[in-house]
Amino acid sequence: MDMMSRVQRALDQQLALAHSPSAPPRLIAALRHAVFPGGARIRPQLCLAVAQACGEDAPELTDAAAVAIELLHCASLVHDDMPCFDDADTRRGQPTVHKLHGEPLALLCGDGLIVMAFQALARAGAHHPQRLAGLIATVCTGTGAPDGIVAGQAWECEPRASLSRYQRAKTGALFVASTCAGAQAAGADPSAWRALGECLGEAYQVADDIRDVMLGSDELGKPAGQDAQHHRPSAAADLGLVGAVDYFRGLMQQAVDAIPDCPSRTAMRHLVWQESERLMPQSTCDRIHREYPQHRPAAVVAPRGALA
Ligand code: IPE
Ligand code: IPE
Ligand code: MG
Ligand code: MG
Repeated sequence: MDMMSRVQRALDQQLALAHSPSAPPRLIAALRHAVFPGGARIRPQLCLAVAQACGEDAPELTDAAAVAIELLHCASLVHDDMPCFDDADTRRGQPTVHKLHGEPLALLCGDGLIVMAFQALARAGAHHPQRLAGLIATVCTGTGAPDGIVAGQAWECEPRASLSRYQRAKTGALFVASTCAGAQAAGADPSAWRALGECLGEAYQVADDIRDVMLGSDELGKPAGQDAQHHRPSAAADLGLVGAVDYFRGLMQQAVDAIPDCPSRTAMRHLVWQESERLMPQSTCDRIHREYPQHRPAAVVAPRGALA
């Protein structure tokens, strides 16, 4: 079974556990809408790939780690799209959860997904108690304060934020959790896999910033031009498009170089380059160099002077 199918099956099984005649039907519908259809599922696939590279010996625990990470990601998107954050109407080419189900259910849906992530870990971890505490700690670090998603989103409430600190927390941290949890689910030392998650995660957000400027809402499946509209710190604004593309490619090279020695190192390098090409095709990089050579860093995009 390929990794995407494996992720989909594990998510399906986890969501099915919430189905019950005793549950509020609209909450269940909102939970499903937040998770299906999915996006790239890049974080859980990364988790599986690292577990396999580490000689995976507890596939149900790897599945649970991958599911937990994807559910936390989906929860972060549900909350991120709400009017008090980015006020987005579409996500993954569909109406956002609050647009379809209203704000109260969107808030509860995000909360419910966060709890479900830990239920998944608790269930599978009961058979691997010696690995469970480490996995929970890794997932919490990627999600909470001081350096996880919660912290990353909270930088938007500060008068000033460092671009890299903001991006590493709001996006990089869950990629680090994905690589480290993959290793831990296989009983391996996560520290060797940290750098891969850091580089990939930061690159991913830099690509998202460039795509937000370059692509339309139809192609993105979510509103375009959001960073400028909401005065968010963004790599495109801070470095200019050419600078951001060069920074992205540098981070991807660092990600490839960070893959530790393992039997599947060549396959993993291939995966990272494939992902790089999906996010930011070479043709787009060439086009940016050709058509936007004058796109310079915006001195300050945020009126509050958010770029530091
Ligand atoms: C969107 O993440 C938010 C960012 C951190 C850029 P993804 O681009 O991974 O979203 P999906 O899951 O594929 O829709
Ligand atoms: C989202 O960041 C990262 C989260 C933690 C949810 P953005 O707000 O930049 O992501 P998109 O563009 O809405 O997917
Ligand atoms: Mg946001
Ligand atoms: Mg957003």
